[in-house]
This record gives sequence, C-alpha cells and structure tokens, in this order.
Amino acid sequence: MNLADLNKIATAMVAPGKGLLAADESSGTIKKRFDVIGVESNEDSRRDYREMMFRSKDAMTHYISGVILYDETIWQNAKDGTPLIKLIEAAGSIPGIKVDEGTQPLPNCPGELITVGLDKLAERLAKYYKQGARFAKWRAVLDIGAGIPSYAAIHTNAHALARYAALCQAAQIVPIVEPEVLMDGDHDIDRCFEVTEFALKETFQQLYYQKVALEGMILKPNMAIAGKKSAKQASVDEVAEKTVRLLKRCVPAAVPGIAFLSGGQSDEDATAHLDAMNKIGGLPWPLTFSYGRALQAAPQKAWSGKTENVAAGQQAFTHRAQMNSLASKGEWKSALEKKAA
Ligand code: 13P
Repeated sequence: MNLADLNKIATAMVAPGKGLLAADESSGTIKKRFDVIGVESNEDSRRDYREMMFRSKDAMTHYISGVILYDETIWQNAKDGTPLIKLIEAAGSIPGIKVDEGTQPLPNCPGELITVGLDKLAERLAKYYKQGARFAKWRAVLDIGAGIPSYAAIHTNAHALARYAALCQAAQIVPIVEPEVLMDGDHDIDRCFEVTEFALKETFQQLYYQKVALEGMILKPNMAIAGKKSAKQASVDEVAEKTVRLLKRCVPAAVPGIAFLSGGQSDEDATAHLDAMNKIGGLPWPLTFSYGRALQAAPQKAWSGKTENVAAGQQAFTHRAQMNSLASKGEWKSALEKKAA
C-alpha cells in the first residue's frame, strides 16, 4: 500500500467546493427510479441517462470530485463509443466503483441485513483498478425499530466494512466506508443519534483492528435525523448541531473527509443540512456530499427519458451540484433555490 497516494486521492475527493455523485444504483434500484418517470430501464436508457450527467461539463468540472459507478457503467461506452469512464476523467473527476453486492438477511437476527460481496473481492478490485477506479464504496445498512439494530448486526456489518476497506487499500483503492443508519422508521433524532454513535464507534474499532489507514479512506455517514415517519421532525439547526456533535465524538481527525449520503431527504433538506453544518465550522475534516437521490431526483424528472430534454436534465443536475457545492462551503442560501425556480 502506498499511503501517500491513497491520501492524495482521498483529499481530492473532498476538495474545497466539491463532492461526490453517487450514480451507483444497482439495476434493481435504477429501475425503481425510472419507473417514477415512466422510462423503461434497459442498458441503453441507463447509459443515456448517466451519459447526460457525465457530459454536464460545468457540474463535472467545478462541483463533482468523483463519481461512484455501478459495475455495468464502468465497462459501458457512451453513444459515440467513448468509454463513460473517460468522460469522467476528461472532466477532471475521479471514477469510483460500488463493490458490495447488496444485502442478505442476517441469520438469527430477524429483520436485519448483512452486506455481502467479500468473496473474491481482491480479484475484482484489481480489475477495477486497471479499468481506472481509484476509490470504492461499500454500504452497510442498519434499520431502527423495536429491539433493532442488534449488536450482532452492528458488529458483523462493521467487521465486513473493515474487511472491505483493508482489501481496497491493499489494491491501492480508497475505500468509502458507509455504515448507513436508515431514516425509514418513526424514531426521533435522539434515537438516530444513539444508534449512529454506536455504529460509528464499532466501525472505527474494526477499522483499527484490521489496520486500515484512516488517512487513506473517506467516511460516508448518515446525518443525525428523525425517521421519516416520526411526528417529531427536527429543525435544520438541530440536525446540523447534533450531527456535528455526533461526528466529533466518533470520527478521528486523521480521516481526510466526510461525505454524507442523502438517504431519502428532499433535495433542499440535504443541501440545507450540509450548509448548516459547514456554517458551524471549526471542524477537523471537510464535510461534503456523496448524494444519490438528492442530486439526481431533479435531473431525472427534467430528462424523463427524452432526447430533447437532455439540456434541461443537465441544467437541473448542474443546479443541484452547484447548490451542494455552496453548502459544502457553508455559502448556500435558500433564496438561490427560489431564483433558479
Ligand atoms: P442517497 O444519497 O440516495 O442515499 O445515495 C447515496 C448512496 O450512495 C447510498 O449508498
């Protein structure tokens, strides 16, 4: 492992004013997104859609430090035959790859999941590196409910995250470590805080046991936030204040950066929360975005699968990327959204 080079990539992933585009939806997930806009999901439509974003020159050059790809996309060519990965590189952005293979039920833990994909991961990482991937992503999922998450789920998922991260670094690939606590339930923000604190502490313990170099990784956490079905929603300032407090308790300063998932927050909430945290300031790590839905819902809607809408889709994508770029510097204002609308 060359840690200086890993650190250089990790630092570039969280460069000032930039963040990550999570475009790594599995074929099942992108189908769900396309269903909403009435577009059939096939190899061509998935390519056309992603090509539209990767050719958004302004967004890709100024606001997007890297793109997380799905296996299909990293081998796919644009309509004119240019490899999609080359479009990303040409814009000065870094290609990355989702390497987990989704979740399976965790035995003896009803309702809980374990992320799979460790078998033969070393071989797959070598192939992805050759293809140009310089970072990877692995997502663990913890649901909050009655009696869950269990310690078994927290521990086994953290252990798998650390196994993945160590394999990535051995392959000279920066691991994005993503222990996601879902916001699907009716729990309040304090319950999310408590579960996320446990999950992050366990994750960093496992990373330490498995000798993962913190300087060569990126953390992708959820924010401290109330469940979507909770009657007690927290304000933007409360989310920001509690998330910062949580991260300070759990994330060593050696980590080069933190890039949040959006997890089902609305576009504007995800931006406002990131902005409010950066307005607090004085933190040991840059805080930025690694959004999937919060960057893509608007361009998906504007595009709706029609060639004549590509420019509108790119405009919508560029707008969200720019808003999140401003938020990553604590310079966003809600008036900027209204002006654009
Ligand atoms: P969301 O921002 O839609 O949560 O997706 C980010 C991601 O990569 C989840 O793994």
